[in-house]
Amino acid sequence: MIKNDLLLKTLRGEPTERTPVWMMRQAGRYLPDYRTLRDKYDFFTRVQTPALATEITLQPVDQIGVDAAILFSDILVVLQAMGLEVQLIENKGPVLPDPVRIAADLTRIRVPDVEETLGYVFEAIRLTKKELNNRVPLIGFAGAPWTLLCYMVEGKGSKTFDGVKSFCYTQPELAHRLLQMLTDTTIAYLKQQVKSGVDAIQLFDSWGGLLSPDDFEMFSLQYMRQIIQALKNEVPAILFAKGAWGSIPEMVQTGCAGVGLDWCIRPETARKMAGQGVTLQGNLDPARLMSPVPEIKKEVTKMLNGFGPGRYIANLGHGILPHVPVDHAKAFVDTVKNHVYQSREKQVFSSL
Ligand code: CP3
Repeated sequence: MIKNDLLLKTLRGEPTERTPVWMMRQAGRYLPDYRTLRDKYDFFTRVQTPALATEITLQPVDQIGVDAAILFSDILVVLQAMGLEVQLIENKGPVLPDPVRIAADLTRIRVPDVEETLGYVFEAIRLTKKELNNRVPLIGFAGAPWTLLCYMVEGKGSKTFDGVKSFCYTQPELAHRLLQMLTDTTIAYLKQQVKSGVDAIQLFDSWGGLLSPDDFEMFSLQYMRQIIQALKNEVPAILFAKGAWGSIPEMVQTGCAGVGLDWCIRPETARKMAGQGVTLQGNLDPARLMSPVPEIKKEVTKMLNGFGPGRYIANLGHGILPHVPVDHAKAFVDTVKNHVYQSREKQVFSSL
């Protein structure tokens, strides 16, 4: 039994004594101990060495007091497993020297045996579960097929991803074949994460918001739906599609347990769009953690009251920034932990 199961209860819609909190990218450069390991080992060594991945995963649990661990890894390992080279260049982000652009490129990629190619992730999960010793749940994750396609085709990060969009709009058949291969790989990958011990999963669609609602359905959501459906009898799934809040009702209909939100939507609006049957997660602007601590407390309190108690997980609206002072991250987490809702809302809380 997991001692602190606030997150899992909230995802199931059960009442809890307080709102759970974690932070996207909570294991990262803002933590001095992470930076020490970063100086010693390159990124993919950290990801591929289970003992290092476990140590990094536990850092925010031990040092910040979050209510869930998220495995230290990266969404791009799936592209490596499919046969593509991925480098992480300092201050530049991910680079794929040979991106996929034409049908002939399909010969270079495959739907892999996940045990064979991503065994180190499953080993890291088993080791992390052992070290966590049931203190908090462990979240597994994968990139959404659309977001992975963005890197697969563009070969690097971009603000607009026009390259992958023109790829989709000029070679839709090829795009859909790739998206299906990514989906099949991701289903096998996440099922094996669950077998290895993760308690919940999150799908990261960081670039879903670059698509119109119809194209979001066409090139992203229909594939995420397949993944959520494939996992529906396994563990609760959180769907985070940054910028795609116009499609909240459609996201809820995938059957996911939780929907992650960025900071560009008011909590009240999001709840209206989502209805009562799903857990919402988010949505503080990560840059807000650069504010002085009293301001952080004010903003977090406003966010908590906006969402209200029950079916809500406090988080940032995207990954934590590398320059955030550790005590600011702690102030975020502690404000959530110490928050007391108004009495009227408390009643709603316990009746959920
Ligand atoms: O949340 C966590 O703490 C778990 C670990 C995690 C990482 N990446 C570690 C990481 C998770 C869940 C991710 C997801 C990820 N990776 C996404 C989706 C979420 C998002 O932020 O939009 C994306 C798009 C990637 C691809 C990626 N990996 C980029 C664009 C970068 C470079 C940008 C950056 O922040 O440096 C990475 C590298 C990366 N992944 C780092 C970490 C801690 C930084 C590496 C370092 O400098 O040490």
